[in-house]
Amino acid sequence: MILGIETSCDETAAALVTAGGDIRASVVSSQADLHARYGGVVPEVASRRHLELVAPVVRDALSEAGATLDDVDTVAVTQGPGLIGALLVGLAAAKAIAWSRRLPLVPVDHLRGHVASLYLGPDALEPPFLCLLASGGHTMLLDVRGYGEEAVLGTTLDDAAGEAFDKGARLLGLGYPGGRELDLLARDGDPTAYAFPVARVPGLDFSFSGLKTALLYATRDLSEDELAARRADLAASYQRAIVRALVARVREAAGGKRTAVVGGVAANSELRASLPDAALAPLALCTDNAAMIASAARFTEAVPYPAYLGLDAYASR
Ligand code: KG4
Ligand code: ZN
Repeated sequence: MILGIETSCDETAAALVTAGGDIRASVVSSQADLHARYGGVVPEVASRRHLELVAPVVRDALSEAGATLDDVDTVAVTQGPGLIGALLVGLAAAKAIAWSRRLPLVPVDHLRGHVASLYLGPDALEPPFLCLLASGGHTMLLDVRGYGEEAVLGTTLDDAAGEAFDKGARLLGLGYPGGRELDLLARDGDPTAYAFPVARVPGLDFSFSGLKTALLYATRDLSEDELAARRADLAASYQRAIVRALVARVREAAGGKRTAVVGGVAANSELRASLPDAALAPLALCTDNAAMIASAARFTEAVPYPAYLGLDAYASR
């Protein structure tokens, strides 16, 4: 079995996955409540919390799988990109576990992890396919040619799609993290109430900063009561604009190929409904988790004991 560990942002996660891609356990401890009052993730607070949670979360995963460390053959861990202090906690924990058992260690790229969320479970997808990766930190169109073989076709020029959701949610006075709350609120609103712009940028790139500004202009002159009355319509129209931009790019790039969507924004109900033919990871595997990291490790070269002790984390690709 592969023990996966993920600590790149504000989720402390551990999972046990078989070499064949079956999930035996997947535990995710979200720190969202801890960061909510700051309106976003505070990196230093996240690192400290990971430090407290990483061992109990690994223990939980083992007990959920009815396993012990004796059943673990390989340790996989997110090496980057992400918050550097947060990553270092997971990496140090993974090194310690692997070293103490003389196991190999697989450093995993977080974005490859998101793609590998599609390679798990009974309905595993096989490359090649076109993949939209939309998360809080990244928005990319990937040409996935083989396992661990991705070419970037397009990327965001400014904000990531998840960031656009979170910033929009903040302007609407919703909690943090806002993507899911905005999704829920949008169900009660009219998506045609406001004509928010869908940015036209050349090639297959994305841009979401203009949309955020448009929402700012639409909300800033509203009184508190007016905002409350229009909030659902604003949320629905804003979400519609983000989803339209994403779906348009997927359709343009697909050219008959199979398509897939991964990352936290893949949990969005309107996006899921708008791409009925796309392969979509189950909801629990869209947002950050360690099963996807263990899954990616199946297609990534392991570093033998004890050479990995010198590995470092990286904040960006
Ligand atoms: O993949 P992820 O968990 O973390 C990163 O790697 O960034 O993605 C988190 C992002 C957040 O921006 C969050 O607001 C967004 O995914 N998200 C959603 C939904 N659920 C999570 N955005 C829109 N609708 C949702 N239902
Ligand atoms: Zn992620």
